[in-house]
Amino acid sequence: MSYPFKIKSLEAYQAASEKAVKDPEGFWSDVAGSFLWRKRWDTVLNWNFKEPNIEWFKGGKLNVTENCLDRHLGTLGNTPAIIWEPNDPEEHHRVLTYRELYNKVVQFANVLKNNGVKKGDRVCIYMGMVPELAIATLACARIGAIHSVIFGGFSAQSIADRLEDAHAEFIVTCDGAYRGNKEIPLKSVIDDALVQCRFVKRVIVLTRTRTPISMLKGRDVWWEDEIKKVETMGNPDCPAEEMDAEDPLFILYTSGSTGKPKGVVHTTGGYMVYATYSFVNVFQYEQGQVHFCTADIGWITGHSYIVYGPLCAGATSVIFEGVPTWPDAGRFWDVVDKYKVNILYTAPTAIRSLMGFGTAPLVGKDLSSLKVLGSVGEPINEEAWHWFDEHVGRKRCPIVDTWWQTETGGIMISNMAGVTPSKPSYATLPLPGVQPVLVDENGREIEGNDVSGNLCIRFPWPGILRTTYGDHERCRQNYFATYENLYFTGDGCYRDEKGNYRITGRVDDVLNVSGHRIGTAEVENAINMHAGVVESAVVGYPHDIKGQGIYAYVIFDNTHEDDNLTKMDIIQTVSRIIGAIAKPDKIQFVSGLPKTRSGKIMRRILRKIAEGETGSLGDTSTLLDPSVVDEIIKGRV
Ligand code: WTA
Repeated sequence: MSYPFKIKSLEAYQAASEKAVKDPEGFWSDVAGSFLWRKRWDTVLNWNFKEPNIEWFKGGKLNVTENCLDRHLGTLGNTPAIIWEPNDPEEHHRVLTYRELYNKVVQFANVLKNNGVKKGDRVCIYMGMVPELAIATLACARIGAIHSVIFGGFSAQSIADRLEDAHAEFIVTCDGAYRGNKEIPLKSVIDDALVQCRFVKRVIVLTRTRTPISMLKGRDVWWEDEIKKVETMGNPDCPAEEMDAEDPLFILYTSGSTGKPKGVVHTTGGYMVYATYSFVNVFQYEQGQVHFCTADIGWITGHSYIVYGPLCAGATSVIFEGVPTWPDAGRFWDVVDKYKVNILYTAPTAIRSLMGFGTAPLVGKDLSSLKVLGSVGEPINEEAWHWFDEHVGRKRCPIVDTWWQTETGGIMISNMAGVTPSKPSYATLPLPGVQPVLVDENGREIEGNDVSGNLCIRFPWPGILRTTYGDHERCRQNYFATYENLYFTGDGCYRDEKGNYRITGRVDDVLNVSGHRIGTAEVENAINMHAGVVESAVVGYPHDIKGQGIYAYVIFDNTHEDDNLTKMDIIQTVSRIIGAIAKPDKIQFVSGLPKTRSGKIMRRILRKIAEGETGSLGDTSTLLDPSVVDEIIKGRV
């Protein structure tokens, strides 16, 4: 495949950036023109950030899977689309060529149809990292069903909330999943969720761990049985549903600063164009290269850079079922060595945890195939950056530090490997077509360089979210109401003397724990559901490996006897309500919380105490009861 939109030099980068500002419609219609459309669009872009209403390639007709699969069959039919590395290195790996992946996707698309799934229906996918997860995702896209993939670490309650919000009547899951030395009982978690969700009509269960599970007559069916049924039907084809560019492709839930997670909606045409454009340009992908993104498909990184971006580009994408530290801390390097990986895209938290094992696990691993390294999910500290550069890239692989969000669909600010310069701990420059602005608290633009502010984007790009499912007002409020005519990211940012961007972290009440977004309000709500808890406040604090840890201040009624047991109980409750990823790292029992006279919790003070900076608390005189602060400092854990 050739990529007409690939930007290969610094001059071309500058020229593309200029063109994308002067003539955005011309720029993006050129990019979109190299994809497969059934019918070309009528208008490139309609937009306002007020409602918001954003439409890209309106009137264009396509199906993403024709771009990911059908289009490649002639030239890349025998090329591996997916290489699957199982959790257990002793188990046989699997390779699916584009032809094989195509066959499996159309087959499962027919299974979905047979089970009553129609265009526009929401299908929840809750699986481990097996090839069938990608297959199920693409099968939904094939028939125009909207997938909502839920990360395998979320609890039954979280699943139930998401099922209800999207009114998803269909579920695809596994009996269980392997992750390191753990076995996760996925189907049983689904069963718990479904106690509350009687509207679910069908659960399709893939066999993976063959752990005993309950199968409810009339509702639950086995993946393998359903495949046999469509095989005997004879017709192996499944024509792709014709979609409008603005038909929803998927919903992905993510945490915000308030309330329950919101369902970010991405649509078909713009998302596909942007995921592929950013994939090819940031990693400077070349046909034939092997791309290994270590994220889970349950997060946006997996959607865009394991499934849609790489497959649209005809790349070979590695799906890894396990974790970086099992059976030992050399696992990533084994995978790189085994499949001659060219691009390794991972997260700072993984790098930091591997740094802790020193360089011994790297000894004897052939990493010479590596050409590009990537980082995503949270700010990468300089120490981790240099370790990655020296010991993994051996100082010959550019590192791309890619800043983006679930809401942006694809990478927004990043150096482009070997094309634009890197700078440790800087995402550096926007991709052509992305227009970042820094603003002060009042929404005034901060111009010039060597300045800090809140990061906003001035102009739409094709991958921007269109709405939050079932609640457009919430989308407006969250992203478009803080600053007029700007998309607000929620991140703070510094722009250096040369115009490079450095993301400094969230400025709202969203935590980033091991690269996972978690709202403080969500964790507080979960803690408050624990019997005996009167009130709680949750803040982040710097954590060596996770980036941020969760620190919870809890007011408990005075009936408990053993602090440690009660803390463990509270952690159990949080795991049940949200999932293990939201477990507080530290819990401190307090008799009161620092509140203003109007009853607002002063998080700034709690954050400082959690960080250990008790000497610089600032003005506490406006507090209702300043003495509570001394007590909290004394009891710090
Ligand atoms: C943070 C993940 C610094 C940021 C793709 C953002 C980053 C949030 C970077 C989105 C980076 C992501 N440098 N911070 N390279 N990448 N972030 O939705 O705070 O899971 O707002 O999307 O992660 O997280 P999300």
